[in-house]
Amino acid sequence: ANIILLGPPGAGKGTQAKRLVEGRAMVQLSTGDMLREAKTSGSEMGRMVAGVMARGQLVTDEIVIGLIREKLSSDAGGGFIFDGFPRTLGQADALGALMADMGMRLDAVIEMQVDDAALVARITGRYTCGGCGAVYHDKTHPTEVGGVCDDCGSDKMMRRVDDTAEALRTRLMEYYKKTSPLIGYYYAKGALSVVDGLAEMDVVAAEIAAVLDHSE
Ligand code: AP5
Ligand code: ZN
Repeated sequence: ANIILLGPPGAGKGTQAKRLVEGRAMVQLSTGDMLREAKTSGSEMGRMVAGVMARGQLVTDEIVIGLIREKLSSDAGGGFIFDGFPRTLGQADALGALMADMGMRLDAVIEMQVDDAALVARITGRYTCGGCGAVYHDKTHPTEVGGVCDDCGSDKMMRRVDDTAEALRTRLMEYYKKTSPLIGYYYAKGALSVVDGLAEMDVVAAEIAAVLDHSE
């Protein structure tokens, strides 16, 4: 199945995408991860977007559509999970056109609902494994053995530069202004499913699994 995970920063898109990759052999396409990789690799594009991302603003449609175009193919095993893309109506139209060209179907758009207070708590407590990208949280999901990744054993734990209270305010504003119109856009296409992102991770995973089983 090909699905979009739609939701504000901290809704749990990355967390659930990782589970789908493991459980269903799906392929995660996170534009946020791709942009951070471009930054780390020191490419020109990476340098261009670094400041914009650190402030919490969206990078241009042109850049992210280019990234997705490079990765999309019609033969991805269990299908694609679009994580953090599309984020504007322009990106949604572009994705629709790309998929139509390749004869691909969009099976579901899953909106993960979480209120702002919970998002702040999640984002300001989040840390990520530099070895494998596993996502942790100071309170709700700490590493079991003092700062060593439960999945890959790496001790390189990182906090994102845009996970400050101030950058998060901008990210939320960008979400409500530019991304939330996609809820209506996909609802009108009959593609939207809503899950309660405030529930425990396993419960959210089960809700998403139910949507997937229903759409296949
Ligand atoms: P991106 O990397 O996409 O970040 P985001 O959308 O802000 O989403 P996050 O990764 O912060 O949150 P998430 O929903 O994945 O939550 P997570 O699972 O980590 O984008 C970053 C930047 O890149 C953007 O600001 C923009 O500049 C640029 N960009 C990216 N894509 C773009 C695009 N398409 N167009 C333009 N610009 C783009 O969970 C968060 C925390 O909560 C974790 O600590 C986790 O352990 C915890 N948690 C998760 N689920 C639960 C649960 N059920 N219960 C309790 N805790 C939970
Ligand atoms: Zn790891």
